[in-house]
Amino acid sequence: MGNINFVKENKEVVAADGANLRLKAMENGIDIYKVWGKMMNCGGAGQCGTCIVEITEGMENLSPLTDVESKILKKSRIIIALLVKP
Ligand code: FES
Repeated sequence: MGNINFVKENKEVVAADGANLRLKAMENGIDIYKVWGKMMNCGGAGQCGTCIVEITEGMENLSPLTDVESKILKKSRIIIALLVKP
């Protein structure tokens, strides 16, 4: 179990090992989607990349990037929220 600190929202939430970052954000009222993502997201299927968030610290606590993440992302510190585990 660990904590996720959503810096911009100044909110810290508790997450079990293996928790889904996108779902933890949604459960805690944190909107990670921009305008396009609100309308066109894939619902967490890993197909659209609209749930991208920046990890400012604690990258060592996350699961390794998947092939999908690697293909979508250009910066190593930015990851797809649905695919990471705290
Ligand atoms: S919601 Fe589509 S990849 Fe995250």
